[in-house]
Amino acid sequence: MSDKRGLFITFEGGEGAGKSTQIRMLAEQLRERGLEVIITREPGGSTGAEAVRHVLLSGAAESFGVRMEAILFAAARNDHVEEVIRPALEKGTVVLCDRFLDSSRVYQGTTGNLEPDFIETLQRIAVNGFMPDVTLIFDIPAAAGLARARKRADEGAVPDRFEKEELETHEKRREAYLDIALADPRRCRVINADQPLKQVAEDVWAMVEPLLNKPAPQKQASQ
Ligand code: TYD
Repeated sequence: MSDKRGLFITFEGGEGAGKSTQIRMLAEQLRERGLEVIITREPGGSTGAEAVRHVLLSGAAESFGVRMEAILFAAARNDHVEEVIRPALEKGTVVLCDRFLDSSRVYQGTTGNLEPDFIETLQRIAVNGFMPDVTLIFDIPAAAGLARARKRADEGAVPDRFEKEELETHEKRREAYLDIALADPRRCRVINADQPLKQVAEDVWAMVEPLLNKPAPQKQASQ
């Protein structure tokens, strides 16, 4: 790994955790430091993956089953990594990615009931050991997150296929994310997202700032 390599940060969590706002705020702070930053998201983020995004979030793939959906997420991820994320990191850019492979573990694995082996095999194909340097897991009680997501819907945003599910499902996802954080403490940091926006932003900065002066941690296929 060259010391010119950028930093790859992924943002994970359930609905209404406020990831997108925090990503924008963090990007601003990093740019003020003179860093090159890109914001990207999954599913999507590259031309090929954006085409797949539409199929997934419209619900068009739903009737083909959760395996098919999981494979499509992985296909999109592979294109995104190879076309956008890896080239940006090679140029020394900080890449902020709204959702990445942990979303597949949680949404398709835990609440989609796909076997962990199936998901991990797909991840090997999608990312081949290419892992985020840091993953910030935005933790919020499911009811509070859903209330925020609903407020957004009242303001005109149409709920996607994955937002229409029950509270219990959302709580399971929350627990699955916390389990991922416990299993991989080197990569994952849990952020209490059930706080005022400014406090969350301060917590995010406290996690990210120490990484800026150090070379990115050595990659390993930790999960
Ligand atoms: P989006 O509106 O982009 O996101 P968010 O909920 O982060 O504001 O919707 C993305 C949806 O896709 C979200 O409900 C989670 C789901 N998803 C998966 O089920 N598996 C995945 O691998 C990814 C990346 C997302």
